[in-house]
Amino acid sequence: MTTRRIAVIVGSLRKESFNRTLAQRFVERAPDTLALHILEIGDLPLYNQDDDASPHPNVVRFKREIEQADGVLFVTPEYNRSISGVLKNALDHASRPYGESVWAGKPAGIAGVSVGAIGTAAAQQHLRTILAYLDMPTLGQPEMFLKADAVFDDAGGLREDSREFVDTWLTRFAAWVEQHVAD
Ligand SMILES: Cc1cc2nc3c(=O)[nH]c(=O)nc-3n(C[C@H](O)[C@H](O)[C@H](O)COP(=O)(O)O)c2cc1C
Repeated sequence: MTTRRIAVIVGSLRKESFNRTLAQRFVERAPDTLALHILEIGDLPLYNQDDDASPHPNVVRFKREIEQADGVLFVTPEYNRSISGVLKNALDHASRPYGESVWAGKPAGIAGVSVGAIGTAAAQQHLRTILAYLDMPTLGQPEMFLKADAVFDDAGGLREDSREFVDTWLTRFAAWVEQHVAD
């Protein structure tokens, strides 16, 4: 059995972030075939094309982490019906310089939790457009649109009826990664 390395990217920098909490639950519940690692994106500078020739060390590190991953799991909040600026910044950094994107071919999954009723659905649709351009095969079903008060208990644990869904989703994502991973 090969364990696939998954880079987990959380689109919120908030200390008490629901999306970071969800990512942590994913790390704990992932099947043995996946090793999930939450990456840091809050220390990346704002993307500036002038820096392409001499990227910041944190950008170099981030690109290396994506290169070393077999797949990527995005856990994103919805900001004004799209993804957050910090997530877009990370996506842009690792897509450049032109011709040196590290995203292409990496199988991807998307999840998100929101306080709003549509549970990040609009943000996830925007992210799918970006990932298609970046040439990342992205799991289509099941979709994971979560509402924070329905999914977490007061301690940040998954409520009982959410656990089965999360586990089913992780199993499907593991199969997706296995199907698309570049050997
Ligand atoms: C700038 C901003 C824009 C937001 N826009 C939306 C939105 O479009 N849809 C939504 O469901 N929630 C929206 N929210 C509320 C977020 O769902 C909520 O802040 C959530 O906790 C963010 O995720 P986090 O807990 O991982 O930080 C917005 C929050 C912020 C700070």
